[in-house]
Amino acid sequence: MIAPSILSADFARLGDEADAVSNADWLHVDVMDAHFVPNLTLGLPVVQSLRRSTDIPLDCHLMIDDPDHWAPLYAEAGVANVTFHVEAAADAVRTARAIRAAGAFAGLSVKPGTPLEPYLDILREFDTLLIMSVEPGFGGQSFLEHTMSKVALARRHIAAGHLRLFLEVDGGINADTIEIAARAGADVFVAGSAVYGADDPAKAVEALRALARPGMAQSARETPPGTAL
Ligand code: DX5
Ligand code: ZN
Repeated sequence: MIAPSILSADFARLGDEADAVSNADWLHVDVMDAHFVPNLTLGLPVVQSLRRSTDIPLDCHLMIDDPDHWAPLYAEAGVANVTFHVEAAADAVRTARAIRAAGAFAGLSVKPGTPLEPYLDILREFDTLLIMSVEPGFGGQSFLEHTMSKVALARRHIAAGHLRLFLEVDGGINADTIEIAARAGADVFVAGSAVYGADDPAKAVEALRALARPGMAQSARETPPGTAL
């Protein structure tokens, strides 16, 4: 799945910018509070408006303090997938349950320097794992390839039947890097500048999808069910 990030879109024309990627699977919405990350974007009222103006399922990536309070409100607003950062959460499991109770998918995100091993158990409570491949806060940064070891680790746990998750990568995804992420085992790809920086955003979505497919096929061959962890 391809999830264009509206962080790289024109914030004064968000409805039109969503329409420009009507072939996208999810629309990625980066919520930043100038505390958890050194940048400020948008919040619940804008997400509520966006929800009314597009049929594309919204994928909200909360880069905010106190997600335990805020995340369920995004689920109640009709967001399809609500992802928050494990580094910011006081009780990630309780928050995941509240998101799911409100009818949304629950997502957990990890920054590039955050290991996955301490969280493998609680990931059973989630639908999505978002692995950051840049430091959260800004679009247009370079892909950090070392973060793909976490994608591969999560993919092995999924292949072995220990976890059921969408595996999402976010940051620096473009025509040069998407296959690396797909080969590591990702199946949801966030792309901001690579989509909204293109002359034709919908064509960029289609091109990225086509580039991801061979890598995903290879990943599936390399991690058959039962692979040793
Ligand atoms: C960064 C955001 C990303 C950002 C990605 O903190 O979480 O979603 O939009 O932008 P690109 O694709 O330009 O790296
Ligand atoms: Zn994001």
